[in-house]
Amino acid sequence: MRRVRIWMAAGLLAASCACGRTLPSDGTIDVVPVPVRVTPVEGVFRLGASTPVCIESSDERMRWVADALDEVLQPVFGRGLECRFPQAGEPHAVNFLLDASMAPDAYRLTVTPERVDIRAGAPEGAFYAVQTLRQLLPVEAFDGGVRTVELPAVEIEDRPAMAYRGLMLDVARHFFTVDEVKRTLDLLALHKMNVFHWHLTDDQGWRIEIRRYPELTRVGSVRRRTLIGKDPGGEYDETCRYDERPYGGFYTQEEVREVVDYAARRFITVIPEIEFPGHAVAALASYPWLGCTGERYEVRQTWDIDDRVFCVGRDSTFDFIEGVLDEVIGLFPSTYIHIGGDECPTKMWEQCPHCRARMRAEGLTAPRQLQGYATKRVERFLQAHGRRLIGWDEILDGGVSPTAAVMSWRGTEGGIRAARQGNPVVMAPTTHCYLDYYQTDDVANEPLAWGGCLPLSKVYELDPYEGLDSLAQRCVLGVQANLWTEYIPDFAQAQYMLLPRLAAVAEVGWAPRRRNYDDFLRRMEHLRLLYGACGYRYAPHPFVH
Ligand code: ACM
Ligand code: ZN
Repeated sequence: MRRVRIWMAAGLLAASCACGRTLPSDGTIDVVPVPVRVTPVEGVFRLGASTPVCIESSDERMRWVADALDEVLQPVFGRGLECRFPQAGEPHAVNFLLDASMAPDAYRLTVTPERVDIRAGAPEGAFYAVQTLRQLLPVEAFDGGVRTVELPAVEIEDRPAMAYRGLMLDVARHFFTVDEVKRTLDLLALHKMNVFHWHLTDDQGWRIEIRRYPELTRVGSVRRRTLIGKDPGGEYDETCRYDERPYGGFYTQEEVREVVDYAARRFITVIPEIEFPGHAVAALASYPWLGCTGERYEVRQTWDIDDRVFCVGRDSTFDFIEGVLDEVIGLFPSTYIHIGGDECPTKMWEQCPHCRARMRAEGLTAPRQLQGYATKRVERFLQAHGRRLIGWDEILDGGVSPTAAVMSWRGTEGGIRAARQGNPVVMAPTTHCYLDYYQTDDVANEPLAWGGCLPLSKVYELDPYEGLDSLAQRCVLGVQANLWTEYIPDFAQAQYMLLPRLAAVAEVGWAPRRRNYDDFLRRMEHLRLLYGACGYRYAPHPFVH
């Protein structure tokens, strides 16, 4: 009897502490993206459910940082920590302090056996410190039911090198619920990424409520059926099969506001994308007068590039897009508004009397220049409303103003050309950033994907500055991963495609000049355990040795 009691007490003790470890003296640390400087200190800090959090700032956004810490610790302690203003000589606390001499996104995290101090330039820096702290916790802590966890004593100085670290999610081909979008934003936060590019319209679905144009969601948000399996690319015949089920969904303006707010609390900017003038079939299905022929189309059920684009000869098309963008601007506070611009065939324009008249009136010598005309006209509208235009690199081909930002996807060439002429650039080349590509060459054992092969190691190789002198490098705002969803049937598979490759993109953006793939893989071992603890699905390949 006595022996049983002793054993039980030992069991309770084991469950009450998730023990961490002192950092090795060489400063190796399991944090992704890699911090700027890590200095190990002897010992550990014991964080308990009763450890107070002290915030020395009147910036209201520090409340969001405290909420983020709560969110991290909730699964550990079953509740967050008590938050209060600091008292003199505060013992054993997590202390936040804003320091205006630091860059807004910079932080210094100092853990000693006595206290945790987080000094940051602004709340976003403090938020990144919380994300680092989350990765310093022993992963067993997330099983819950512990009273204290041990943090290794350390001093970390850190800040991102690039201002833009993004992910594009295509919600037109596969519609993700608001909850799934929020889970995606959580993933961005975990990786210290700060831009969510929301691809809201395409041939296969219009996904945002526009009050002036209700048909966009009544008609344009639903396709009658969807192609099963791989798209043959233009030759649709009786061998093609369809699921014969309507598929649709859209976000109300209230839901959009909810997502933008959720993102803001995680220091993530949401950039909406409204495709113009290509990828327009869902819009044309809703309002046939937007197309060159006025024909009534169906929302597209297959995937490849479509000739049916907005008519840029008619002024009514510009009234429409300005009406749409007016509402979009009201919903999204982002500086940049993405107008797509990719893959826009000129076939319809060549045959359209309105478009041909526009070419004559504007003195344009090639149909492609109509895209330049349309882009510049939309840009003037955005600028008049205090916003900037960003588009896929095709916007360069029609001639682009010096202020438009270019998202380089057909390799980095477009980005290099744009940066050399002084346009702001985001690098998102298919060669390194298309996370809809297969992750291994063992295609038979992978879920159906777009094609290609983009392993983690290749993503990590991206050099966003390659081919640019120091002046042009300053035009590169950052990097972005793209997840197109033609072959993504659900959120579980979206996670599988994102993880762990998203981490590589995050590290390219955070530390483009301080990278080592072997060290990254070593650090990823811990992050992958954290993915598991958070319930995320990830691809196992890079971790199988
Ligand atoms: C794109 O992949 N069409 C931008
Ligand atoms: Zn036309």
